[in-house]
Amino acid sequence: LGHPIIHFREVPSTNIEARKYAREGTAEGTVIVAEHQTAGRGRSGRSWFSSPEWAIQMSLILRPKVSPALAASITQIGAAAVAKALESLGLSPQIKWPNDVLLSEKKVCGILTEMSCELDHINHIVIGIGINVNTPHFPDDVASVATSVRIEKGETWNRKKLMAAVLNSFEPLYKEFLEGKEHPEYLRICRALSNLIGQHITYETTKGRLSAKAIDIDNIGRLIVQHSDGSTETLLSGEVHIGTQ
Ligand code: BTN
Repeated sequence: LGHPIIHFREVPSTNIEARKYAREGTAEGTVIVAEHQTAGRGRSGRSWFSSPEWAIQMSLILRPKVSPALAASITQIGAAAVAKALESLGLSPQIKWPNDVLLSEKKVCGILTEMSCELDHINHIVIGIGINVNTPHFPDDVASVATSVRIEKGETWNRKKLMAAVLNSFEPLYKEFLEGKEHPEYLRICRALSNLIGQHITYETTKGRLSAKAIDIDNIGRLIVQHSDGSTETLLSGEVHIGTQ
């Protein structure tokens, strides 16, 4: 992809910035990175805790020539790329479908993918990746669910090197996806590192909260769950919790 990198000291959100650049025609592969986000965005309208100088906050502009229906895979390619990069540091990440990477069962990375498309055509996709790299500790309200590379490894890590490792892992995984490979590596990684497969989970639907057993991730990255009556359902995205409550 080449990855021209546009660096900011401070922006409201690298995803918002990347979407602006993408609308103006900026090339696929361009990365927007910021030291600090004043309005970092998480999924479901939540905010994303920014830790200036400590975290990686970046957004990658993509223009895949695939059906919009396949776009959900992009999040998983991102999660697989981050997990591979963390493995290269000697860590043992897990992937919480669809978009979190965990260390010691706590979140170290969140991904927010946003797409602009017409009926059967993707204009652009922005994949925003936030990784807690050198954050020494977290505020009390998130300390039980968030962690950083530094907390897990007991040492600080060079953010530029980790960012390069993520982008270098992303590229071949994305290429396989574009080529439509039957058994792509990113899905193998997402399945192998999944913390949900085999677990009883709960998730929100328009019919209220449901519980089921997560049994697999399908060929386009959807989570397959099985209900107690044996019927199966595929989830495209959403918030999933381990446990039956
Ligand atoms: C989530 O876990 O809810 C997703 C968090 C995504 C955070 C990243 S940080 C870089 C990019 N810019 C944003 O405003 N959000 C994403």
